[in-house]
Amino acid sequence: MTKEHIETILAQAGNRTDEAKTGSVSTPLYFSTAFRHGGLGQSTGYDYARESNPTRDVLQETLAKLENGVAAFALSSGMAAIQLVFSQFKSSDEIIVSDDLYGGSFRFFDLLTDNYGMTFHLWDGQDFDRLSALVSREHAKGIWLETPSNPTMKIIDIAKTASIAHEHDVKVIVDNTFYTPLLQQPLNEGADLVVHSATKYLSGHNDILAGAVVCKSEEDAEWLDRNLMTTGANLDPFDCWLLLRSLKTLPLRLAQHERNAKAIVEALEANDAVDKVLYPGHGGMISFYVHDEDWVDSILQHLNIISFAESLGGVESLLTVPAIQTHADLTEEERQAKHITKSLLRLSVGLENSDDLIDDLNQAIEAATVKAATK
Ligand SMILES: Cc1ncc(COP(=O)(O)O)c(C=O)c1O
Repeated sequence: MTKEHIETILAQAGNRTDEAKTGSVSTPLYFSTAFRHGGLGQSTGYDYARESNPTRDVLQETLAKLENGVAAFALSSGMAAIQLVFSQFKSSDEIIVSDDLYGGSFRFFDLLTDNYGMTFHLWDGQDFDRLSALVSREHAKGIWLETPSNPTMKIIDIAKTASIAHEHDVKVIVDNTFYTPLLQQPLNEGADLVVHSATKYLSGHNDILAGAVVCKSEEDAEWLDRNLMTTGANLDPFDCWLLLRSLKTLPLRLAQHERNAKAIVEALEANDAVDKVLYPGHGGMISFYVHDEDWVDSILQHLNIISFAESLGGVESLLTVPAIQTHADLTEEERQAKHITKSLLRLSVGLENSDDLIDDLNQAIEAATVKAATK
């Protein structure tokens, strides 16, 4: 049989997993933390829930197929997934990180620097001569990147990064939260590990906190499994079931997120109050600079449909101010260097009608500019 398409894999995820007992089409949800043994040395394959759980297994197999990896691990948050990946490194290791990332990742790297003495080098994702120099350093062990970058939407060439990194045995890890495996499969492009905040597009309804790690080699699968079983930040069974259910509609959701985003990009580009729109060409994430940072609070207060809230990838549109939310922990200097100014807004385009979203943005921007002019 030829390899199935992603839509088929997702729609069918979990079906035929309970053939022997009930034939249920939806994956059974197992809450049990303990599994009875028939006798000494006997096991059904399940012993204790921190090690494995049948519902989590179905989700993990689906995530592995989605990213074309050998194994996947479902965790209690995206940050738990990032922490698991970093549990492979030692304090003497040096990690190269792209310079425009989710602010919480920077906060975690600061913690590893302050508490464990690890060294991080920033890389702009574009200068490959600098990357070659960094990966040649004796203790360089990993590259961490997010593409499109967050929040300024730069694209980083994963294949080129991986080919340079692998000359020096340096691992490449990609946070694929923004694009999802439907738009980008980093393992196919040469990356070694992929991480997701599954809180975002993978779950897609602004109601599950979850993370995932997917790997390409059996060797990585072994230590990830051992480290996760040891530390225990697994995703609980109910959220595994919800996430699996959500994944089934990911292709439809993402296609509509992108259609809506493209319509909104056009409208924002036509709005005189908007200085610049940053859109990487695909997906549902847009960043844009309004002309005056003093308008921002008023824009947020005049929104009727879009919510001023800090997340992304869900059916409801959310508007974020990176400088005071996702990237608040950076210093003012760091934010300026990354062009994360107070006039930068990041929009996670939801699944509402795009005309309604455009009207909502335009009227909020208009109200804010009128208010400023009459002050
Ligand atoms: C790109 C990206 N990676 C990782 C994370 C962390 O994920 P979580 O909030 O699920 O812990 C986030 C959270 O916003 C994110 O945006």
